[in-house]
Amino acid sequence: MLKGARKTWVALALLAAVFGGVRAADTELDMDLMQTIEDTNKSLASNIATQNAPGSTSDAKELQALFGKVEAHFVAKGDAPDAVDLSRKSRELSEAIVKSVATKDFGTASDSATTLSRTCRTCHTFYKKS
Ligand code: HEC
Repeated sequence: MLKGARKTWVALALLAAVFGGVRAADTELDMDLMQTIEDTNKSLASNIATQNAPGSTSDAKELQALFGKVEAHFVAKGDAPDAVDLSRKSRELSEAIVKSVATKDFGTASDSATTLSRTCRTCHTFYKKS
């Protein structure tokens, strides 16, 4: 009897953990994701500054994929059209950087990177709580 009751509680606790986890993923942006974006964006800036083409390309491609996730998050969340636009813009800027670097046009890549960093701040102004 006691054993059975404990099993039920364990099952309920597990269920709560699973559903809690799902709900958190729905409404909150994964902090690890933003931290990865931060690190990759810094790496990209220094790779562009030192005209490291392979490094710049791989960072910009990674950012493209990461902003795809951010975009999906805000689409799923709903009621955040500006955040969806800004994620999309970030993705397009990352893509533009890949193209500029491919033609060794680091000046244009640098301009795009500056615009990209400005886009981070614009989104944070509206959507970051702290
Ligand atoms: C489309 C919106 C959007 C864009 C674009 C965006 N962020 Fe964020 N970022 C957020 C939100 C929202 C949070 C806070 C999440 C929360 O409070 O739940 C955040 C949080 C962060 C954090 C804090 C993470 C932590 O651990 O506290 C960092 C760092 C960060 N962003 C870096 C960046 C950088 C760098 C860029 C641009 C290359 C960027 N973000 C672009 C929406 C965005």
